[in-house]
Amino acid sequence: MSRTYIFKRFERFWHWSQAALILFMLASGFEVHGVYKLLGWQRAVELHTTAAWALIVLWAFAIFWHFTTGEWKQYIPTTEKIAAVMRYYAFGIFDRNAHHPFRTTQLTKHNPLQRLAYLFVKLFINPLIWISGLLYLYYPELARTSAMGGIELGSVATAHTLAAFLMLIFLIVHVYFATTGHTPLAHIKAMITGWEDLEEEPLASKPG
Ligand code: HEM
Repeated sequence: MSRTYIFKRFERFWHWSQAALILFMLASGFEVHGVYKLLGWQRAVELHTTAAWALIVLWAFAIFWHFTTGEWKQYIPTTEKIAAVMRYYAFGIFDRNAHHPFRTTQLTKHNPLQRLAYLFVKLFINPLIWISGLLYLYYPELARTSAMGGIELGSVATAHTLAAFLMLIFLIVHVYFATTGHTPLAHIKAMITGWEDLEEEPLASKPG
């Protein structure tokens, strides 16, 4: 194992504050949806809206950071080794002798499956949740103009709830994968400290 600095300070700040905000927004959002009663509906709406603005500001900074540092390139999709990575997560992960087919470096910190998943979150789930959330927030004002083009509030709420479910599914899968390092907490610690323990063994599986 060699220790390599992978996650920079802003990236770690952005990751954990986004995680906290999204967890809070899931909890408050599903209360607004009527799934349970925790904060009280009115308070849940107010806090959900405050968290939404915090998330929008955070995303604005994160988008700026990705483009000014060139880190956006980490999300360019690739199919190289994708089949091997899928095979690893389906079978190899249960075999002590199997090695992950992908090597993390500072320039390629995501495996091809992660690239695709994060790209889908960034290009589909986030914009859907963001746009539907803002339409929801300003619906009364927008409905007075022709901007909504006849789209009803119910459809906006459905799109927003659908995006929230997609985000929840992503979160569950993401947390599972976060525990699949060489120890269950290895990747999580790396996202706290920035330093990842990387394997130096050859890429091929060791003979059983
Ligand atoms: C840009 C970010 C967001 C904005 C502007 C936003 C805005 C809103 C607004 C205005 C409501 C309706 C509150 C009301 O009834 O008055 C709402 C509801 C809701 N939000 Fe968000 N939200 C955002 C992000 C999120 C995120 C990240 C999640 C979860 C991952 C989420 C989950 C929900 C859910 C489940 C509801 C209830 C939908 C319903 O049944 O009406 N929202 N949101």
